[in-house]
Amino acid sequence: MYQSAESKELQQQTIDWLSFVTAGESATTLPGDVESLRDILRFHEYRYYVQNDPLISDSEYDGLYKFLEGLEKKDPSLITVDSPTQRVGAGLVSEFLKVEHLVPMLSLENSYNEADLIDWDRKVRDLSKLPAVEYCVEPKFDGASISLVYDNDRIFRSATRGDGVVGDEITLNTKQIKSVPLGAKFSRYGIDQVEIRGEVLINKKNFKAYNDKLVEEGIPPFANPRNSAAGSLRIKDTAEVSRRNLEVFLYHVSYLSAIPTSSSATKNDTPQTHSGMLEMLWDLGFRSPKKEMKVVLGIGQVMEYVAEFESKRDELPYEIDGMVIKVNDLHLQDRLGMTSHHPRWAMAYKFKARQASSKLIGIEFQVGRTGAVTPVAKIAPVAVGGVTVGSISIHNEDYIREKDLMIGDAILIERSGDVIPQIVKSFPDLRTGAETVIKFPTHCPVCNDQLVKPTGEAVWRCLNISCRAQVVERIIHFVSKDAMDIKSFGDANVRKFFDLGLLKDIPGIYDLDFEAIAKLEGFGKKSIDNLTAAIEQSKGQPLHRLIYGLGIRYVGETTAKTLANAVNHVFDFKDFTEDALKNMEDVGTKVAGSIYRFFRDEDNLEMLAKLEASGVSLKNQKRQVTGMGNLNGQTFLFTGTLAQLKRTQAEEMVEQHGGKIIGGVSSKLNYLVVGADAGSKLEKAKKIQSIKIINEEDFIKMIPS
Ligand code: IVH
Repeated sequence: MYQSAESKELQQQTIDWLSFVTAGESATTLPGDVESLRDILRFHEYRYYVQNDPLISDSEYDGLYKFLEGLEKKDPSLITVDSPTQRVGAGLVSEFLKVEHLVPMLSLENSYNEADLIDWDRKVRDLSKLPAVEYCVEPKFDGASISLVYDNDRIFRSATRGDGVVGDEITLNTKQIKSVPLGAKFSRYGIDQVEIRGEVLINKKNFKAYNDKLVEEGIPPFANPRNSAAGSLRIKDTAEVSRRNLEVFLYHVSYLSAIPTSSSATKNDTPQTHSGMLEMLWDLGFRSPKKEMKVVLGIGQVMEYVAEFESKRDELPYEIDGMVIKVNDLHLQDRLGMTSHHPRWAMAYKFKARQASSKLIGIEFQVGRTGAVTPVAKIAPVAVGGVTVGSISIHNEDYIREKDLMIGDAILIERSGDVIPQIVKSFPDLRTGAETVIKFPTHCPVCNDQLVKPTGEAVWRCLNISCRAQVVERIIHFVSKDAMDIKSFGDANVRKFFDLGLLKDIPGIYDLDFEAIAKLEGFGKKSIDNLTAAIEQSKGQPLHRLIYGLGIRYVGETTAKTLANAVNHVFDFKDFTEDALKNMEDVGTKVAGSIYRFFRDEDNLEMLAKLEASGVSLKNQKRQVTGMGNLNGQTFLFTGTLAQLKRTQAEEMVEQHGGKIIGGVSSKLNYLVVGADAGSKLEKAKKIQSIKIINEEDFIKMIPS
């Protein structure tokens, strides 16, 4: 997409624009025209979302973006439809229009084993009269398929698959996907109009974070990233679509027309192979599977690559459910043609299913750390994706109704990647009459207090905060892997110590009577040593783990990180108003209220004081660097190309040691770190006496080892 000279030029212009933007009032003439600023922003979106290798910090990007927004606001005639600011759609979409695809979106034929593939290859060889066929092998992305139409180098519309012929027009939503370019120079290839197909995904990390948030709020999570991607495309609020962090892979050019006036007005300007098309898309700034695909000769090599990819499946950041094998030569594809359902030139190879059939045998009601009573389905044990599943959380009463579940039902379950197993659906048609209705209890199954369901909530709760189940679950959550990670403690030990009266609450973890524990069966010297070492080690865990471990309602791992970054010490929250909390990223009214109440509760503050007295760190250690090389409060800026460190790495080092990155050269800057080919920033810094100009070596020496 960008040649290295072009990248260098754009980066140089970026630096000029950045220093202009940060200079504020004092700057007069723009470093270039508005289109050059748009080009720069497009370049950095591409580096960030397609290449995964950003050259500037998020705040620098935001600064430039806001500046462009300001220019366009002042003079709306400057706005173009492919301006980076135009991703932000019109807010609410009222209704999705139905649109007909330029070419019907067929599905692929599936195969499940080597014999199926060998069979298909034989047919392709017979029809093509070739001894061995060149194939392009690429992942089968497990998301929601979309089509994109570009007209005259600009995005024209986007649609869901729908029934394959007619889909929903979702252009505004698709524009929220940052890896979809709003403009692309198809004209360079003599192309006038083009329809591209691809798959919208949510990567595993974002999916987990989003689901954790739903669970925190008592809302049933999505069964898999595919459902959540498909659901996200049909949201009528573009801002919410943008927050879902959707990604896309574009893998097929289904239609193209040549520019009529182009003298070469033929398809000759365009690639003649499928892999060439993927390269072209990549070159035009799309995220195509260029790096994931492989061109091979013959079905033997296809199998090798399929096996290689399957072994990497769990390490990929996104879900795939197989591989797609496509005849590489586009002329041969044309000759092979289609059946009424699928192309003859392509075949999907599906990996081992992560779905399985089972039976719902019974329901157990568990009380969680917040008192929420969760039904857990006991199912006939079944292997899915290499793990045997015997019970599945089914969230709440509404969910039982939605999935139409009865005890005795045949069910379909799914376990995708490291996602917890879910019930996909039941089969009411298969009922025999022997099934029984699931009854929700009216009283807590542990302490027998009456359960309540606050209005507007989906979850029944036990409000007795001393309910044994809640206390035990709070301790289990505190020691768990994602919280304080006290290895060798585990659920079983928490329960055992609690039952024996050796552990009453969270601070009790740091005050255990090891003499008494040593007398218990199964606790030899070694296990006690392990346990004491793990407890000791947990005292220095980073603040976000402690905050997450406190089990504040609605505070998942992501929010805990945001909170930890905002303070030096956890007690700083005692002075936060609800409004200050609401101003933080990811913190809405409900979450802010919950955090506010937590830090106004005497019992909670006493618990934290006890933890601190036992030596547990309640400080934000990142902000509390002491001794030599302390960068506390110092501001830094990098310019030019660094030799040893990546720019992002260097900036992280500054932040980790208490320093701050700022966007431009001004009297607020303490250090300018200069790499090769430094430009205008250096010149400007030389004029401000207080700025210390240092090189990469000097910078590295400042960082405590
Ligand atoms: S090619 C005319 N390539 O799988 C053929 N499809 O079961 C166009 N899919 O509807 C499709 N990854 O949503 C193709 N690399 C890939 C794919 C892929 C995922 C999906 C797509 C399609 C479904 C077919």
